[in-house]
Amino acid sequence: MHVYIIFCHPSRQSFTYSVLYSFTAGLKKAGHTYEIGDLYAMNFQSDMNPEQYNRESGTEPGLPVPDDVAAEQAKVDASDALVFIYPVWWSDCPAKLKGWFERVWTVGYAYSYENGEHSASRIKIEKALVLCPAGHPVEYLEKIGIAESMRKIMLDDRLRGVGIEDAEMEILGGMISQDPDIHERNLGRAYDLGRSF
Ligand SMILES: Cc1cc2nc3c(=O)[nH]c(=O)nc-3n(C[C@H](O)[C@H](O)[C@H](O)COP(=O)(O)O)c2cc1C
Repeated sequence: MHVYIIFCHPSRQSFTYSVLYSFTAGLKKAGHTYEIGDLYAMNFQSDMNPEQYNRESGTEPGLPVPDDVAAEQAKVDASDALVFIYPVWWSDCPAKLKGWFERVWTVGYAYSYENGEHSASRIKIEKALVLCPAGHPVEYLEKIGIAESMRKIMLDDRLRGVGIEDAEMEILGGMISQDPDIHERNLGRAYDLGRSF
């Protein structure tokens, strides 16, 4: 498979960057090819400007998509699978990745309306995986309902909602404890997920 990995963290000294490293080591071992879209390194523009807003809101539907958005859509189109790697910030992805969805999942690409009905997207992706390190332990995020809300929004809406039925999330939790065993266990899990992708 060819995998487009959307990576969203500002620091290469971060644990999230180590997760990217471990996951791609496993992915390589499994014989997959991949491309990394490092949103901070690319200085990806996450804010929608008024012109794109007019296109997406239907005021000026004939406007072309911006070039940087078309480039991201081309990378998605050239891939069989998508992987998102980001830290949990305020119970969701960093704002830059939220902006990636706002701008890249455009009308006519990720969804469209025909006769008032939501119709099929043009995204042809076989599977998606979301890997997100979190400060809290997973058990705590499950107990307080945040893990479920993260899955609802990221998997049900942003991925399955645009036709990627096979979409899973792995929360690599407990990072707040600074426990080296948790650190190693989470990196081992990232490697295994790449190896078995
Ligand atoms: C701005 C910010 C917000 C955060 N919000 C949450 C949160 O809502 N839930 C959580 O479990 N951890 C939260 N964390 C902790 C990170 O998810 C955690 O540190 C993660 O392991 C990423 O580590 P890294 O920055 O070294 O990659 C937050 C961290 C930051 C910097």
